[in-house]
Parts: sequence; structure tokens; C-alpha cells
Amino acid sequence: MSKVLVIGCGGVASVAIQKICQNDKVFDEMCIASRTVSKCDALKEKIEKQGVSSTKITTAKVDADKVSELTELIKSYKPDVVLNVALPYQDLTIMDACLECGVNYVDTANYEPEDIEEPVWRAAYEKRCREKGFTAYFDYSYQWAYDERFKAAGLTALLGTGFDPGVTSVFTAYALKHYFDEIHTIDILDCNGGDHGYPFATNFNPEINLREVSANGSYWENGHWVETKPMEIKREYNFEGVGMKDMYLLHHEEIESLAKNIPGVKRIRFFMTFGQSYLTHMKCLENVGMLSTTPIMYEGREIVPIQFLKALLPDPASLGPRTKGKTNIGCIFTGIKDGKEKTVYIYNICDHEECYKELGSQAISYTTGVPAMIGTALVASGVWNKKGCVNLEELDPDPYMDMLNRFGLPWKVDENPVTVD
Ligand SMILES: NC(=O)c1ccc[n+]([C@@H]2O[C@H](COP(=O)([O-])OP(=O)(O)OC[C@H]3O[C@@H](n4cnc5c(N)ncnc54)[C@H](OP(=O)(O)O)[C@@H]3O)[C@@H](O)[C@H]2O)c1
Repeated sequence: MSKVLVIGCGGVASVAIQKICQNDKVFDEMCIASRTVSKCDALKEKIEKQGVSSTKITTAKVDADKVSELTELIKSYKPDVVLNVALPYQDLTIMDACLECGVNYVDTANYEPEDIEEPVWRAAYEKRCREKGFTAYFDYSYQWAYDERFKAAGLTALLGTGFDPGVTSVFTAYALKHYFDEIHTIDILDCNGGDHGYPFATNFNPEINLREVSANGSYWENGHWVETKPMEIKREYNFEGVGMKDMYLLHHEEIESLAKNIPGVKRIRFFMTFGQSYLTHMKCLENVGMLSTTPIMYEGREIVPIQFLKALLPDPASLGPRTKGKTNIGCIFTGIKDGKEKTVYIYNICDHEECYKELGSQAISYTTGVPAMIGTALVASGVWNKKGCVNLEELDPDPYMDMLNRFGLPWKVDENPVTVD
């Protein structure tokens, strides 16, 4: 039995927390801590009213930007593991606090700074762009730099247990373990066929989401990064459960870890589907400066344009009751088995309306929150106990694949899929 401290109480957290309660054989106690404690209290009340879980829930207020507040909370609550489902901005402060308190750490997204104009960070970023050849604001270097410290402390920092990254890394490890001697190419396809009926909304935190999709794309090929303009590479794919969709090549964080951890891989690409209307709205907002993270003065007050935009857009958590349709996310692998060429597609289809019926959330939060619980459970129960900063493809995929089936994200394997050119 174990005690978990969950930090953050937004869209993804709300699913992870409810799934933790479904897994009360592993988690007998949970503290939900966030900036706005009333959200934690409301979720605790909702779960307790259902009366189906024996997990004992408490709540707390914490500013996760402050290591001192985090260490105080961790020292008083004494969890076995901390699940960070706040924002990527808080990754390093929460890792610092976990190290100070001797507690395992789990998250769903790699570090990125809130202020990308901050001079010290900016100089390091520009050096990294020149040396590595991709310009995304996020990369693993900040968190991988904690590896030796987590190892020395005998602790695990499990990095990126959402769907992508997360399940996509586990699918890769599973393909390598059961279907291939060597994987040569990986195409990660992320399709959201959901319709929420709004002209424009993002499926998870707008600031993080819009930063990601308005950036340059990139992929890994023959040992180096190839960078593309935003939305430069477009393909069509016919997704089971959704139908034909346009998809665009994006930079994505698991490309970096898979390139490091999958021996012999020659190419890794990531595609996400977008409708034309979404792209037109985004381009327009970008052109007028609304996606900027640089503060401006407005009527004597400093505002950050993208944060102001976030206040105007529908709260991703409110999309649940309106969203119809399915997601289909998975990976197409090519490689060699017993000297012969082979192609395998592993994917999950998730229905927005069914997610809402079960937990009151849409499928984007659901497909991230379920894997967040699974990774946390495997670390808490010691099934995954590799020390240091660990990406999911480095671990045995079988227990995770089994839990995906048991906790709402069943997967399929197609050994004769259509590939992407
Ligand atoms: N790997 C994947 O597949 C995947 C997919 C989607 C999202 N994600 C990641 O999942 C995480 C959560 O996303 P989301 O859509 O759930 O975001 P969200 O709805 O905006 O929720 C973020 C939560 O973090 C809290 N928070 C923010 N700053 C905080 C601080 N300084 N101290 C304490 N709490 C703080 C927020 O508190 P307030 O309520 O006060 O705002 C909110 O409860 C993000 O890191 C995102 O990148 C991963």
C-alpha cells in the first residue's frame, strides 16, 4: 500500500486522481495539492460522495513554483511518490523538493520555462539550438541533468507518463520486446477526431498546447534532427474509428528520448491531426501577437498575451460534456524480425463521450490521466524500480500494457497497417 501526493488539480489531474481511487489496492492514501485548493476540495467531495473507493483523500494548498512550500508539504505528508500533473514549468522545483525529501517523482511532460525571454535561460537555449539542431522550447536536458542525483539518492524520477509521451514510449518498448529484433522507423500518429462545437478551443492547457503546435516541426533521421517550418509536412491517414484526417509533422518530446534509448532507430516522426479551421484561428492569433509569452503593458498593467487568451478561451475541463467522437493514438513501427522486414501498428481508440460518462472528462485528459496513474502505481508498488531519471521505453512494458487494458485504454496490434510515406 502506498501514499501519493498529487500536485495540480486541472483536466489531467482530475482523471489521474479518479483513477488512483479506482486503484485503491495500490493507493490507500492520497493528498491532492494545488494552487487553487477549492478545486482539490471539490474533487475530493465528488469522489467521496460516490463512496466506491477506500483511498483516503486529503487536500492542501501549495505553490509548486516554491521549493520551500513543496518540501514543507512533502515532509509533513510523507508520500511514497509525488505525481506532478501541474504544468511543465514546475517540473524542476518539484524534482528539487523530491530530492530534498527523499521521495520518488513522476510527471507527464518535460520541463519548459514560463519566461522564454529570461536572459540566462535564453542563452542556454540558443546554444542548445545551435548544437542539437531543434528549436522547441522544451527538451530533456534540464531533467536528465538530475539523473546522477536521483541515482545517488536511490530514487526514481519517471519522466513523461502521459499518452504521448508515455504510452507511445511503452508501445515502442513492447514492439521491441515482442515483435522486432531491431526497430528502424517509428511514426507516432496522434489523431483527435473529437468535435466540441466551439469555433476554437484547445483540448488541454491552452498556453502549453498553442506553444507546441505553433512551433517549428522536427524529426530524427540518421542520427540528427531535421527541422521544418510549422505545419510544413502534411499527410493524410485513415484512422480506425475516426476516418480520413489531415495530419502535420510536429516536434515532440518523446522523439528525443526514443532516439537516445532505441538502438539502431533510423527515423522517428510525430504527426498530429488538425482541422483547417483550427489552423486558421491559430495563425490569425499568432499574427496579431496573441500567442506571445512576452509581457506587454496594457492600460498601466502588465499582461502576458497568451495568458489573456487563455482567460478568453473555453476551459479545457469544460469541453467534456460537449465533445463527441474518438481519439486514435499509436505508433507504426518498421524493422527486422528473424532477418525479415516487418511493420506493426499499436494504437488505442478512446471515445470522448464514454470518458465523460465514466469520469466527467473528455478523452484528451482521460488518455493522459490514466497513464499518469499507471506510471505512478508501477513506481509506488516497486514493479518499476530503476533509479535515476527514467523514460518509459527503458522499462519492462508488459505490466503497463496490462494496466492500460484494465484501466480504460485497451490497445490493438495491426501487423499489416497502411504506412505513412
Ligand atoms: N504526455 C501527455 O500526453 C500530455 C497530454 C496533455 C497534457 N499533458 C501535461 O499534463 C499537465 C497538466 O495539463 P492540464 O491540461 O491538466 O493543465 P490544467 O488543466 O491547466 O491544470 C494545471 C493544474 O496545475 C495547477 N498549477 C499551475 N501552476 C501551479 C503552481 N505554481 N502551483 C501549484 N499548482 C499549479 C493549476 O492550478 P490552478 O487551478 O490554480 O490554475 C491546475 O490545477 C501539463 O504538464 C501538460 O503539459 C501531458
